[in-house]
Amino acid sequence: MSGTILVTGGTGYVGSHACVLLIEAGYELVIIDNLVNSSSVVVDRIEQITGIRPTFVQADLLDEAALDAVFQRHAVAAVMHFAGLKAVGESASRPLDYYHNNVGGTLCLLRAMQRAQVNTLVFSSSATVYGEPESNPIREDSPRLATNPYGQTKIVIEDILADLHASENGWKLACLRYFNPVGAHISGLIGEAPGGVPNNLMPFVSQVAVGQRDKLRVFGDDYPTVDGTGVRDYIHVTDLVDGHLAALRYLEKSGDPLLNVNLGRGEGVSVLQMVAAFEQTCGQKIPYEIVERRPGDISQFWADPTLASEILGWQATQGVEEMCADTWRWQSMNPQGYGG
Ligand code: NAD
Ligand code: UFG
Repeated sequence: MSGTILVTGGTGYVGSHACVLLIEAGYELVIIDNLVNSSSVVVDRIEQITGIRPTFVQADLLDEAALDAVFQRHAVAAVMHFAGLKAVGESASRPLDYYHNNVGGTLCLLRAMQRAQVNTLVFSSSATVYGEPESNPIREDSPRLATNPYGQTKIVIEDILADLHASENGWKLACLRYFNPVGAHISGLIGEAPGGVPNNLMPFVSQVAVGQRDKLRVFGDDYPTVDGTGVRDYIHVTDLVDGHLAALRYLEKSGDPLLNVNLGRGEGVSVLQMVAAFEQTCGQKIPYEIVERRPGDISQFWADPTLASEILGWQATQGVEEMCADTWRWQSMNPQGYGG
């Protein structure tokens, strides 16, 4: 494989894993990231893993001149678009920032792509577009009913991509709806490094395990689930980025597709099951207490991953054990994330 891929948000959690995979698959990369939620150290780590240093442009997607300069300097064949703000709670208190950054940033990117005549895009959507599902597993044709501004930005972007696709020939577009990405690269050199108190389960659990936090707060044990705690479809981040490569290859060889595809494993795992698996991996107890439900939380959801398997020939291969082992390796090697 050859060609230059522009990776927006490439120093972030999922984007950095995609960069490693794309380099290993023979692509040249240009990363654009404004580092609002990541560190430039990630570029060093990508080089350490792959032996190749990707081009890194520190720029904001809202800066159209910077985008034009990238497209002028590099023969970009396709874009993987990870850049965005992603904290659900924060999106409720700062909706304008979320729409401005996520929707506005995507519009700037698409307009720059149009000017540069680059028409292939893989976009990071989210299972959050489904809101509270009527039933599980969730298929792609389930209704989209986001329950927070972050999720709404993903729906708006999916709709913009559909309108663009209908407006002119040539666009090859894939919206990948992630379920719950966890884990880290097997090297332990890149992983999830949230700033401040983690919102998500696995970074919190692993910070408890390395002694940075006293105990996990489990948000509710009275859901109608296997043990009363919330159930999610956790997917290893390296499986997730494999799905991106499969989507890119599909777009490269197809007509003008517009895809909306779930990337999940199709298996629900509860909070307490995840904690028990992590305890096995790290060989110690994870102290926790049951507290009130988190406002806005959904009791349970998991993917129907059939479409990804049929269209992209992709399915996740790694289980909860690998997710825990790789999270633990990353967390133990980098207790302070990229700052340590
Ligand atoms: P992340 O925050 O680690 O990475 C996003 C990157 O985008 C960061 O490096 C940030 O600095 C950059 N960025 C944000 N706004 C930017 C802008 N205006 N210009 C340039 N760079 C900007 O998040 P992640 O977990 O890697 O998520 C990647 C994508 O996947 C996001 O779009 C997110 O919404 C989506 N997603 C993530 C999850 C998850 O649980 N991690 C689930 C579903 C969907
Ligand atoms: N949980 C706890 N304690 C914590 C953190 C989480 O008990 O400290 C529980 C939650 O209540 C939930 C489960 O762990 O039952 C998973 O919670 P996460 O916050 O890790 O994940 P969510 O499914 O709530 O949300 C994440 C992203 C969203 C995205 C969604 C689907 O934050 O942006 O996955 O992809 F939309």
